[in-house]
Amino acid sequence: MAGKIPQYFIDDLLARADIVPVVDSRVKLRKTGKNYSACCPFHDEKTPSFTVSPDKQFYYCFGCGASGNAVGFLMEYDRLPFPEAVEKLAASMGIDVPREQLAPGQIKRQQESQSLYQLTEKAADFYRTQLKDHKVSTPAITYLKNRGLSGAVCKEFGIGLAPPGWDNLLNQLGTSSEKTEQLELAGLAIRRQDSDGNPGKMEPGKRHHYDRFRNRIMFPIRDQRGRTIAFGGRVLGDDKPKYLNSPETPIFHKGRELYGLWEARQANRELKRLIVVEGYMDVVALAQYDIRCAVATLGTACGEDHIQLAFRHTQELVFCFDGDQAGRTAARRALEAALPQMQDGRSVRFLLLPEGEDPDTLVRQIGGERFDQLIDEQGRPLEDFLFDLLSEGINIQTMDGRARLSKAAAPLLDLLPAGVYRQLMFQQLARRTGLEQDMLEEIIAAEKARAAKLAQQAQPTPPKPVPTAAGEDHARPAAPAPAEAFNEVPPADYEVPPGYDDDESEAHYYTHPSSHPSSHSSSHPSEGPQTRETPRRRSGQYRLPAERMLIALLLHHPQLAQLIDDSARFRDSDDSDLQLFAEILQVMHQNPALNSNQLFGRLMTLQSKEARELLPQLAMSHPIVGSVSQSMEYDPQTEFQDCLQRLAHSAEKQRKRDLLDQLKNSGNQLGEEQLALLAQFRRKPH
Ligand code: CTP
Ligand code: MN
Repeated sequence: MAGKIPQYFIDDLLARADIVPVVDSRVKLRKTGKNYSACCPFHDEKTPSFTVSPDKQFYYCFGCGASGNAVGFLMEYDRLPFPEAVEKLAASMGIDVPREQLAPGQIKRQQESQSLYQLTEKAADFYRTQLKDHKVSTPAITYLKNRGLSGAVCKEFGIGLAPPGWDNLLNQLGTSSEKTEQLELAGLAIRRQDSDGNPGKMEPGKRHHYDRFRNRIMFPIRDQRGRTIAFGGRVLGDDKPKYLNSPETPIFHKGRELYGLWEARQANRELKRLIVVEGYMDVVALAQYDIRCAVATLGTACGEDHIQLAFRHTQELVFCFDGDQAGRTAARRALEAALPQMQDGRSVRFLLLPEGEDPDTLVRQIGGERFDQLIDEQGRPLEDFLFDLLSEGINIQTMDGRARLSKAAAPLLDLLPAGVYRQLMFQQLARRTGLEQDMLEEIIAAEKARAAKLAQQAQPTPPKPVPTAAGEDHARPAAPAPAEAFNEVPPADYEVPPGYDDDESEAHYYTHPSSHPSSHSSSHPSEGPQTRETPRRRSGQYRLPAERMLIALLLHHPQLAQLIDDSARFRDSDDSDLQLFAEILQVMHQNPALNSNQLFGRLMTLQSKEARELLPQLAMSHPIVGSVSQSMEYDPQTEFQDCLQRLAHSAEKQRKRDLLDQLKNSGNQLGEEQLALLAQFRRKPH
């Protein structure tokens, strides 16, 4: 079992590797000033916004936000998992990759997973054999035939049969108590309990477990490598529950798997699209009619992880759900989960079937060709689907109706990542509502403030979600705002980096562009509709909020970390930027010798997705003004200390505001000191 690739090796490899030839051998680069550029290989574009920086050793696309270092590029472009990308980069430099010794705990966990994989595979084999055994299989085979499935398709999906009885699988695989425990861990056997929920009496010679799946058609669920990790089981008749799924186990997390994905990959070299359906039977029935690109979530709503997984394999998703209420709800949730992932070049469509039909029943009536045709002709693009959904019950002819539509739509559109698609969607909203872009932005700001207020009321001091690698929280990274959002259009080649603001004193009070409403601003209840969401250009100078400027400065001048002894006070803050700042400080404190390049490489392998998107933007831009193309002399240390002061200043101001709010609400008699404070604030309203 291979251990991890040691971090020192990755640091060293990245310090020695040159990203320019790595990219150039795959995407022809043109030298532009200090950097190189090309049309972005990760989204469709006609003018190059993809930049490779030999100084910083990473690439960044101002169009779609794709970014990373040499390893990241190989992962994306050659579609490789991280270790394989490191191997490939090292191989191109003629270097062997060492591997770490695994800690005993890790070895144990790996071995445990390994044996779970083997066990579920053996179980799948057992269920398949049962389907061939005439003593028990006749009703099951009849059932499958009646549902129109051929032997070949059943074989392709590895369909089997859990025979009737409480201990068929246990007798086969639970030959020792250790093996039986493993079956329980794999979700295949259940421990007996007495009526009070206690483990049943241990009668000698009697089993303490029983088979989870009994008298059911078994659908093995395979992971991306084709390993069986769980099962779905369907009753042969009308018993309840109709479907039974494996529980979560060390090797199965239903929120992250798509049924049929592996089979679809096997059947297609390139996946033109993936059709997301609701059920196992829908996937298999479509395959029976030669539509070999359907996948299903596993008895759970389609979430962001599912969509992310699907988009790793294709650019086009079609959600094909029943036309009933449940199907419509599922479609709406899929829509919300898809919005943040609508990078340019990706497409999502929806096909809601007539009530009472599902893909399985429909394809059996009309056949595969017409089904495909139906998707092509009637699958509604996300944009139409979204606006139709939101316009339901609203009379768009009236002023009130238009205001309501924009209120409902603006926050959803705000989930879209930066790019042409986002701009087009906002233009479409402007067209449909007859409202100017500016007005829409005010509405977004107001809605966000309202959402933040609601969230705050619901939860007095909501902890800010700490970005996690698992991507569980929905906070989104800042992304460049569409050009129309600026009061003036910046001159060509002048990129306005995200989160920049030209107003000095209040910069830190603004919500960062495109942050998710629920995850932000809760610490600033006084924010009203005047909250500024997009950077504006006034004097030609852009200034980052202090929190982000600190990060940017640190990325460019890692040695600044030595100016701060204690990163804990930032880590404990409820601002996610400051938490990230603390993390970077910590990396530098532990590895004081890292240079900017190495620090960046390390952060990109350590950090959460949000950070991985924010950091390159900050590193690509000049910490003080403008973008990579701008250069300006500045003293990093002075700037750094200035930012720390700005932070302290704003914290103090916030404290006074809180105090003032408390006073206003307390209804108590005010003391002299408090009155003085109040007077001070009257003079300078916020
Ligand atoms: N499901 C589940 N548990 C249930 C019912 C449904 O996990 N008790 C999940 C299954 O993944 C199932 C999907 O939801 O495939 C869709 O359910 P449903 O529409 O009720 O079933 P169909 O797929 O139409 O099943 P069939 O055609 O076999 O009746
Ligand atoms: Mn069905």
